[in-house]
Amino acid sequence: MDMNEIEAIFFQECEEGLVGLEACFAELSGGGRDPETINTIFRHVHSIKGGAGAFGLERLQPYPAATVEPVPAPLAKVWLKQHGTGFQVDPMLREALTINALNLLGEWPIRTKFDAIFCRNVMIYFDGPTKARLQTRLADRLKTGGLLCIGHSERLDSSVAGQFESVGRTSFRKIA
Ligand SMILES: C[S@@+](CC[C@H](N)C(=O)[O-])C[C@H]1O[C@@H](n2cnc3c(N)ncnc32)[C@H](O)[C@@H]1O
Repeated sequence: MDMNEIEAIFFQECEEGLVGLEACFAELSGGGRDPETINTIFRHVHSIKGGAGAFGLERLQPYPAATVEPVPAPLAKVWLKQHGTGFQVDPMLREALTINALNLLGEWPIRTKFDAIFCRNVMIYFDGPTKARLQTRLADRLKTGGLLCIGHSERLDSSVAGQFESVGRTSFRKIA
């Protein structure tokens, strides 16, 4: 899959996200106060902003100051650059990235073992057995000592939990 195809998928996802956002805002303005609606709004916005960053769509991409507040000061000083009223990740870091699309439920043409895998707010879409299978495959692609970072509302499945120790609410180090 080349970058044009990946970009086309991104714009397709943006359109779906915007439709989803519109539905959520309509629900809120109709008086709805379901916390899941608020979560869904955040998920759509995160997806659009995350993809925009990957494609260098700079007007969408800067992080508001409040978002980068938790970044430790020594790291922020080196890697974050002021952009208008927001912040961007230093281009040197962005250029070091390789971006590829991967269907988490399909074949993985990956032989590398990783130091860290961030798989956040994606497993929320999958049923229990699918989550367990995916986590087994993620654990297999991690080096011993590597980190698996998942979303705040996600949990490690009991079938893989023994391979990890917790290093925070959403981060797990592979120990076996
Ligand atoms: C709620 S967003 C989370 C985005 C980002 N990880 C974050 O935390 O902000 C969920 C993402 O999961 C992706 N996704 C859903 N099913 C997937 C699958 N089978 N393989 C890969 N990505 C998938 C969607 O395309 C979407 O970008």
